[in-house]
Amino acid sequence: MISSLPPQCSLCLGGESFAHHARHGDTEDTEIAQRENIHLVRRVSQRVARRDRNTRALLLLFSLFAVIPCVRAQQTGLIANTDGRKTISLDGQWHTIIDPYETGYYDYRYEPSANGYFKDAKPKTKSDLIEYDFDTSESLTVPGDWNTQKERLLLYEGTIWYKKAFDYQSKANTHLFVYFGAANYVADVYLNGEKIGRHEGGFTPFNFEITNLVREAGNSLIVKVDNKRRRDAVPTLITDWWNYGGLTRQVKLVETPASFVQDYFIQLQKGSRERISGWVRLNGDKLNQRVTVRIPEARISKSFTTDANGSAQIAFNADLTLWSPDNPKLYDVVIEAETDRVQDQIGFRSIETRGTEILLNGRPIFLRGICIHEEAPFRGGRAYSREDALTLLGWAKELGANFVRLAHYPHNEFMIREADRLGIMVWSEIPVYWTILWENPATLENARNQLGEMITRDKNRAAVIVWSMANETPLGAARLSFLKKLIEQARSLDSGRLISAAMERHYVDEKTQMIDDPLGEYLDVLGCNEYVGWYDGLPEKTDRLEWKTKYQKPLIMSEFGAEAPYGYHGDPLTRWTEEYQENFYQHQVSMLKKISFLRGTCPWILMDFRSPRRPLPGIQDFHNRKGLISDHGERKKAFYVMQKYYRELEARSQN
Ligand code: GCU
Repeated sequence: MISSLPPQCSLCLGGESFAHHARHGDTEDTEIAQRENIHLVRRVSQRVARRDRNTRALLLLFSLFAVIPCVRAQQTGLIANTDGRKTISLDGQWHTIIDPYETGYYDYRYEPSANGYFKDAKPKTKSDLIEYDFDTSESLTVPGDWNTQKERLLLYEGTIWYKKAFDYQSKANTHLFVYFGAANYVADVYLNGEKIGRHEGGFTPFNFEITNLVREAGNSLIVKVDNKRRRDAVPTLITDWWNYGGLTRQVKLVETPASFVQDYFIQLQKGSRERISGWVRLNGDKLNQRVTVRIPEARISKSFTTDANGSAQIAFNADLTLWSPDNPKLYDVVIEAETDRVQDQIGFRSIETRGTEILLNGRPIFLRGICIHEEAPFRGGRAYSREDALTLLGWAKELGANFVRLAHYPHNEFMIREADRLGIMVWSEIPVYWTILWENPATLENARNQLGEMITRDKNRAAVIVWSMANETPLGAARLSFLKKLIEQARSLDSGRLISAAMERHYVDEKTQMIDDPLGEYLDVLGCNEYVGWYDGLPEKTDRLEWKTKYQKPLIMSEFGAEAPYGYHGDPLTRWTEEYQENFYQHQVSMLKKISFLRGTCPWILMDFRSPRRPLPGIQDFHNRKGLISDHGERKKAFYVMQKYYRELEARSQN
C-alpha cells in the first residue's frame, strides 16, 4: 500500500502539513473537512491514547467513518517520465455535458450536491428521475480544447463535464494511476462516483492513484473541468491569449509495480561538466532498496541505497559528450530499483552566467530566440501533439533560432522533449502574468504549486536552461516578496538552471532606457519586454536609444514585436502592413546590436495567435498578428529580417 502520509507535493518534495496541502487548490469544503478530519484524527488519537480507553474506542470508530472514502483514492506526487512506463491511453472521444450553471455540482441552494453528475446515475426504474445522461450526450475529442471543436463553444467559459468509460484487468503487485497532461483550469476528478482529487492550474500535469477504486469493467472516469477566470487565480482575469478550456493534453492510465521509481533528478552538478548529482525517489511499501543508475553507452553503472523515505542522493563522475544545439546528445539512462526499472533519454550540459556572459558548457553563447504560444499551426486551438511541436520548432529552426521562450505557461511535454532532441534551448515560464493578487496566500500557493509541477516534469531535460517566474508584473513590495518566494523555491528545487523573469524598462531621459527593476537583483538573467516602435512611438525611435542597467548581468530581450496580417501591404510607416513590421524589425535589430550586455533576443512572436483582446475587424479578428509567420504558415517580410540577423550571429559564433 502506497504510504498514506501526506503526498510529497511538488511544492516542497517533503512532508508539509495537511493544512499546507489543503490550502493549494483544494477548496471544496466537504473534501477539506474530510481531510482536516484525517489530520485531526491523527493528532487527537495520540493525545487520547495517553488519556482514556473509552474515548479512544469512540474516536477510532469516528475516524474509520471519516477516512474511508479518501483512503480508496490516493493523491501521490507527480510520476516522472510517464513515457518510460506502462501506460494505457484514454485519449479519444469523451462524452460531455456542458454545464454553465454547474447544475451537476451544486444544488439549487448553491450547496455541493451529493448526487451530482459525478455519480453518472442511470434511472433504475421507469419512474426514476435522472435529468442527465452522459452516454447519450455529445462528445469532445481529448486531448483538445473545447473552444475550437464546436463553434458555439468558441467563447465558452464555464464548466464542462467529461466522461470516459474503460475496463481494466487488475494485476497482482501493480498500482494504477490516472495521469493528466493538463486540464484548463480547475479539474475535479471522480472514478466510479468517488472523488479522487482536484487540480488547479491549466498547464501542468497531475495524477491520482486509483488502484483501490478501479473495477474490472465499466469504470466511469468523470472530470469536471472549469475554465472560469478568477481574480485570485494564476493567471488572473486578463491575458492576451485565448482561455482555451478542457482536457487539453493526453490522459492515460499509468501502471507501476507496488514499489516503484516515482521520480528522479539526474543532471550535471551546478558549474560542473563531469560531476553528475541528483536523487532518486521510490514510492510504495518497500522504500528501502538498492537503486542503480546506468548509462550503458558510457559504461556507467552506479548503485545507491534509498533511505526509509525511499530517497537516495546520487553523485558520480562521468566523462560524457555534452548536450548543445550543435550536438544535442541524449543518453539512454536506466534507473533500476529491486522492484522497478525506468528508462529515460537525458542530455547533460552545464549552463551558468559569468558577469554579462551566458556560458553553455563553459563557453559564451548568444541565445537566438523566438517566443511561442502553445497554439496549433493551421488548425488553431491549443497545440498538444508531437506534430504540433515539430512544426513550431521546425519554423523556429528555419528562422535560425537556437532558443525558444515558451510563453507564458509550461507547454506540453512534446515541446520540451522535441527541443531536447533538436538541440533547441528553452525558457519555460509559469503564468504569473501582469497583475495577479500578490497579497493573497492562496494565489501564492497556487503559483508555487504550478512552479513545482513545471520543474518536476522537466528537470531532466537538458534543453530547459531558464525557469521564468513571471511576465510584465508591476513594481511593488508585495509583488517583489511574492516573486522572491518563487525564486527561492525554484533554486531549492533546481540549483543548476538560470532563473529569470520578463521585466519592463523605463526612460531615464528621452534617449536612455534603464533596466533597474528591483527584481533583477534576484535573477541570474535579466528578461526585458520592449515595444519601441509599436506601442511606443514609430520604428525609427529606436535609432536614438541607449540601453543601460544597474546589474552586471546578461540581458535577454524577451519580447519585441509589431503587428501585420500576412499579405497586408503598404508603405513602411503604415500600421498593420508587412512593410511596417519589416521596418520595425530592421530598426530593432540595429538597436539590439548596440546593447553591450545583450545575450539573447526573443521576438514576439513566432506565429499569430488567438486573443480575446484583439477585435480589429479585417486585421486582427481576435488574433494577435505579431507573428513572423501567420497562423496558416505564411512567412511575413519581417521573418526574413530576423532570419538574416540570426544567420549573421550563427556565422560569427562559429568563428
Ligand atoms: C505583452 C505580453 C504578451 C502580449 C504582447 C502584445 O508584452 O507579454 O503576452 O501578447 O505584449 O501586446 O502583443
